[in-house]
Amino acid sequence: MKKLYIGLMSGTSMDAMDAALVDFSTNQPKLLASHKSPLSNRLREDLSKLYSIDSINILKFAELDQKIALVSVDTIKTLLAENKFSAQAILGIGSHGQTVFHYPHLANYAFTIQIGDPNIIAEQTGITTVADFRRRDIAAGGQGAPLTPAFHNAIFRTEKEDTIVLNLGGIANITYLAADLKKPVLGFDPGPANCLLDQWIHHHLKQWFDEGGAWAASARFDQGLLQQFLSDPYFQLNPPKSTGPEYFNLKWINKQLAILSRQLSPASVQATLCELVAISIARAIQGFKSPRGVILLCGGGSKNTYLKNRIQHHSHSHQLLLTDDRGVPSDWVEAMAFAWMAKQTLEGKTSNLPEVTGAKNQTILGGIYLKT
Ligand SMILES: Nc1ncnc2c1ncn2[C@@H]1O[C@H](COP(=O)(O)OP(=O)(O)O)[C@@H](O)[C@H]1O
Ligand SMILES: [Mg+2]
Repeated sequence: MKKLYIGLMSGTSMDAMDAALVDFSTNQPKLLASHKSPLSNRLREDLSKLYSIDSINILKFAELDQKIALVSVDTIKTLLAENKFSAQAILGIGSHGQTVFHYPHLANYAFTIQIGDPNIIAEQTGITTVADFRRRDIAAGGQGAPLTPAFHNAIFRTEKEDTIVLNLGGIANITYLAADLKKPVLGFDPGPANCLLDQWIHHHLKQWFDEGGAWAASARFDQGLLQQFLSDPYFQLNPPKSTGPEYFNLKWINKQLAILSRQLSPASVQATLCELVAISIARAIQGFKSPRGVILLCGGGSKNTYLKNRIQHHSHSHQLLLTDDRGVPSDWVEAMAFAWMAKQTLEGKTSNLPEVTGAKNQTILGGIYLKT
């Protein structure tokens, strides 16, 4: 019998709600269907404004909580209809929600908030929904992030070679899976990936992203600005660490440029941002003390050819591949991870890795919203 779950994910890039329908009845989870619903410009702009914590408006918060839930419901319904699956066939939805605040470092009242009311999702899809995965890990003393390394470990680990899974979403998330199975899984956020690239190009050219990295490739990066970027304390922090666009944003870039106080072309800043991403990743890989192996790329940034070339340049002892080369479509790894997390939770199994998030113990993540 098939064990079907749906994972719903919208990352910090806020580009789209991704849904992946996965069959877990065999050893290797199988992606049976997927659907991507782009978020409207209006919704993206409203979400970006919410990041400014000083001016939070509770009514706007409630509106967006419901709007993300409704996009989630639409995405699920389209996925099911287009692929001729019935809601009854699905054992559960794992809904990540849209992160609007991620402050796991605060000494008091550390928190993270993902919106997209799961009550609405369960009610309107008729499918049991698991949501709010990250706060349980924070309650256990962790960062609530990254969560996907446990899934990466379940599907990509091999004794044949060291495997590094690198998700290039708004933020870069890296997972180290040693060929030596006795070694713990390592994983953290080396720093920004697309979030700074997207915000910089949007500010200058009004495009949502730099297609293939062509704009960055048209200029040279600036060594002085790169050093200025790298002097940010986040890059010096030891793991566990996780971050988000509430920290790495346009304001952050402008602050660094003001300190540099030298005029640079916007394209050159874009190239320097790519260099920052590639170097922070290379430093993370050096920290794993893995002399060779493969890097499996996933997430939207894996389509940025220029960025990919810079990553390969700085991490040349590892072979750069896509997760597709291991049979898992790179666009859907993250959404598949949340289908897996729903399955874990509904089976009463844990899915955080204390060595990754810094939690004191393993714990069962998420709240369950049962179908009626
Ligand atoms: N063809 C492309 N060229 C360059 N960058 C791309 C391309 N396609 C997608 N991206 C980048 O990937 C991002 C979306 O990646 P995604 O994995 O969905 O991130 P998130 O998990 O943060 O939503 C886009 O915002 C963009 O920066
Ligand atoms: Mg996305």
